[in-house]
Amino acid sequence: MPKKLSVAILGATGLVGQRFVQILENHPWFKIKILAASSRSAGKTYKEALKDKWIFKTQIPKEISKEIILDSVANAEKIASEVDFVFCAVNMEKEEIKELEYKYAGLECPVISNNSAHRVTSDVPMIIPEINPEHSEIIKSQRKRLGTKRGFIAVKPNCSIQCFMPALHPLKEFGIESIVVCTYQAISGAGKTFSDFPEIIDNVIPFIKGEEEKTENEPLKIWGTINNNKIINSSNPIISAHCARVPVSDGHMASVFVKFNKKIELAKIIEKWQNFTARGLPSSPENIVTYFEDQKRPQTVLDRGLCGGMGISVGRLRRCSIFDVKFVCVSHNTIRGAAGGSVLLAELLCNLGYI
Ligand SMILES: NC(=O)c1ccc[n+]([C@@H]2O[C@H](COP(=O)([O-])OP(=O)(O)OC[C@H]3O[C@@H](n4cnc5c(N)ncnc54)[C@H](OP(=O)(O)O)[C@@H]3O)[C@@H](O)[C@H]2O)c1
Repeated sequence: MPKKLSVAILGATGLVGQRFVQILENHPWFKIKILAASSRSAGKTYKEALKDKWIFKTQIPKEISKEIILDSVANAEKIASEVDFVFCAVNMEKEEIKELEYKYAGLECPVISNNSAHRVTSDVPMIIPEINPEHSEIIKSQRKRLGTKRGFIAVKPNCSIQCFMPALHPLKEFGIESIVVCTYQAISGAGKTFSDFPEIIDNVIPFIKGEEEKTENEPLKIWGTINNNKIINSSNPIISAHCARVPVSDGHMASVFVKFNKKIELAKIIEKWQNFTARGLPSSPENIVTYFEDQKRPQTVLDRGLCGGMGISVGRLRRCSIFDVKFVCVSHNTIRGAAGGSVLLAELLCNLGYI
């Protein structure tokens, strides 16, 4: 790419927004031009707005910290006219987010979203680039509906499913009948740190609002097919999820139980994971799935940073006495599961000519 594309981060002061700032610091294709948040932060430098909320041990990049004055995400006309596309990660009511993302798309500014508001909109693609890049085709229908030439909305799925979908997808050809998944999710997934979530210390909370529904339904859209200008969800496999919040800063773990419609050798499953190759985009991990033979891996702290936080760690593959097999996965929820997954999606859509 000869010239870097200018981007805005909507929700730049949040946990995901800060990850975008960190990931995009030296990105070969994209350059941050605008940072935007609520009207509470607008008019301040990034450093002033964050106060002591910068989550990383490294300093805020100098040119970001002092030179960029935060805008308000509500200034859509101005922001959309100054950048090539936006990353959106705002914490607002679902209907407000829907409207905001439509507004930017309508202003001919592509929106790559972390939010759940448009995940069920049938002509908005929800993409994990290694799994369903072909769903980007639906952007043509969406543009027709919105009456836009450039503008569109594309989303990445919920952070809970990004740790196990890349492990399940290469096994799909074995005929997956049903899945039970239990997730152990980090507090940054709720936009929290230990200082603003004291009730999680020494504790596990067995409920995350809306998370089980997303974990059960979003894989079916990702495995869905395009028909009549819509993405039609796959009718199988059946998925049942239980999602818990655990006292971990970053990194989601999932225990996955899978029933196939025929008997599969464990070695064949490991072979599929090892042969699951990435697309060669700037943020593609060297290996999508890394399988650990050590019974004590993957561990959240040890393995969430694998391949710069874009890799999926898998281990403990074994026979199950109720289902056929069971295994454990870990991924980084604010990198692969949020900002990194969105940057990879934007790279894919640039590569395919949609941005
Ligand atoms: N955390 C994760 O692992 C994760 C993973 C996947 C998806 N997501 C999704 O990504 C989005 C952001 O999550 P987060 O964890 O980064 O949240 P967060 O830390 O609470 O950050 C929220 C951001 O939204 C802005 N905001 C809040 N109210 C606003 C308003 N009324 N108008 C404009 N901006 C407003 C905040 O700006 P101020 O600082 O000015 O208030 C801040 O920049 C959410 O939709 C979340 O569901 C999060």
